[in-house]
Amino acid sequence: MTAKPILKMGNPLLRELAAPVDDPTTEEIRSLVEVMRLSMAEAGGVGLAAPQIGILLRVVIFSVPGDRLSQEDGGEGEGISETVLINPKIEILEEETALGWEGCLSVPGLRGLVPRFTKIQYSGQDLEGHLVQREAHGFHARVVQHEVDHLDGILYPERMTDLRNLVYETEMQAFMETYKVSD
Ligand code: NI
Repeated sequence: MTAKPILKMGNPLLRELAAPVDDPTTEEIRSLVEVMRLSMAEAGGVGLAAPQIGILLRVVIFSVPGDRLSQEDGGEGEGISETVLINPKIEILEEETALGWEGCLSVPGLRGLVPRFTKIQYSGQDLEGHLVQREAHGFHARVVQHEVDHLDGILYPERMTDLRNLVYETEMQAFMETYKVSD
């Protein structure tokens, strides 16, 4: 099994609605997740949705590094180990949103300040068909909302409320120093 190239913004498949998976325990889905893992590792991301490699099924994988958790949440930052989520659902627990920086393997080289709900509960199935259900806040909640958006054909720039905060990574330091944008 080999990594697949990540589709980039502008590719029509990234705007499609992905279909639910009937049976998460099949070899087809196991292989898909393996290819997603390889593709994400090669590209160096923390999350990937199946449509990003051109497969229109409701499957996402992600992990949350501990240092990112503590950054946005002021939490202890244990991190979330790699999670496979099939047919994910999100329930918003608090209407409050917060801005935070996001990047996306389908939007390489850029970062944007995106509002997301700060506290959610999400659920889905794993590769054994078992229910995965967690509460998430801060960066963890952000990652899940970002990945699930991919399944509905939405990329993070569409969620932004101020496109002046869409910047190239190479300009980020100067941007932060000049505008002191807080997240
Ligand atoms: Ni993305």
